[in-house]
Amino acid sequence: MEKLLIKGGKPLKGQVAVSGAKNATVALIPAALLANDTCVLENLPQIRDVYVLKEIVEQMGAKVQMNETGTMEIVSSDLCNSHISNGKVKELRASYYLLGALLARFGEVSMAYPGGCDIGLRPIDQHIKGFRALGAEVEIEHGIIGIKAKKLAGSHIFLDVVSVGATINLMIAATMAEGTTVLENVAKEPHVVDVANFLNSMGAEVKGAGTDVIKIRGVERMHGSTYMVIPDQIEAGTYMIAAAAIPGGNVVIESVIPKHLDSIAAKLIEMGVEVQFNGDSVRVRNQRRPKSVDIKTLPYPGFPTDLQQPITSLLAQAEGTSMITESIWEGRFRHVDELKRMGADIKVEGRVAVIEGIEALSGARVSATDLRAGAALVIAGLMAKGETEVCNLFHIDRGYENLEGKLATLGAEIKRVKY
Ligand code: EPU
Repeated sequence: MEKLLIKGGKPLKGQVAVSGAKNATVALIPAALLANDTCVLENLPQIRDVYVLKEIVEQMGAKVQMNETGTMEIVSSDLCNSHISNGKVKELRASYYLLGALLARFGEVSMAYPGGCDIGLRPIDQHIKGFRALGAEVEIEHGIIGIKAKKLAGSHIFLDVVSVGATINLMIAATMAEGTTVLENVAKEPHVVDVANFLNSMGAEVKGAGTDVIKIRGVERMHGSTYMVIPDQIEAGTYMIAAAAIPGGNVVIESVIPKHLDSIAAKLIEMGVEVQFNGDSVRVRNQRRPKSVDIKTLPYPGFPTDLQQPITSLLAQAEGTSMITESIWEGRFRHVDELKRMGADIKVEGRVAVIEGIEALSGARVSATDLRAGAALVIAGLMAKGETEVCNLFHIDRGYENLEGKLATLGAEIKRVKY
């Protein structure tokens, strides 16, 4: 077992580069299987979710190689199996994209129900509704989802809720359906646009990604492509929050797409933090204790739910009372109990957390309950007086590339130890 030891109180200074986007990458790898060909994906993050997906698609017959700079070659011409027996699909949510990709390519797929972070109910009814609308039969029996279609046919699908996963999955599934598919009330997250761009580079005809309506004109076949994933919006936001966490912080975060960071920049500025964009980098500087703010998580371009947990740590030491409304995941406050061990004064009632900022958190032994809770606790450890131990690093390793290494280059006193 491993844990992080953090000595708090040191302001972060220097430069840090953001890796490729996790939530785009975990869709690009399944999407690459649409072609009976070779795809090369560049700038992929070195994280556990990527390694797990690699192992799953290799077991299905794809040949996959990934080098240390994050370039992955996927040869899927020998892909023979659309019945995924690898139990690891339960380790990550994004394995559901294999359903859309294999359904489109082979007309059938079966797989165990996907897993992922424990942050709420996480239904996939909108994915299933969409597959059915495209003409597929869907059955769930003994924990296995089986989907079959003689021929997928374009359809008009209005999503009941704005879902990133359903938007991407249906976009992938519809690429080779007969006729045109119209998806309405879709998610507009940067990774939705990134997946659409990748699909188009493989020969698909997807229009409108980034707006509320996406149109997909089915094509006969898809071909291989070389594609570079976008930088990770949430990793960038995590470093922006970390930079602001300790007065005296001055960090340049490189390889970002500024537009993706508008909502987090706006909140940090409201808290009294300096945020300056310059080309593809952003400088975050903070001289004083931040001011309290109210935050409501929303689909893009609103404040991302994935940064709600990291920013809670910052607000725990802000001047005044803040209120966070979590409107996406009803169970995404499990980090709060851990922050309370560090002295935070936070009350949670349903989807709302009320945070009374205190002068200083104090180091404690805490446990990452999910990926972004892990990031929140690391930030809290950087801010706290004394030493913090963060356990359960498995979750952090799923989605942050070398978190402690990057923070150490910014001057944080943080190290990973075995116990
Ligand atoms: N929803 C439904 N039915 C569905 C799908 C979703 O009711 O069929 C609801 C969910 O319960 C939730 C809302 O719609 O209340 C949004 O869910 P969405 O489908 O957008 O989430 P997701 O695709 O499962 C992705 C990210 C999450 C991120 C959310 C929201 C991946 C692999 N995961 O999840 O990322 O929180 O979008 O932006 O892309 C993370 O990176 O830490 C993470 C959890």
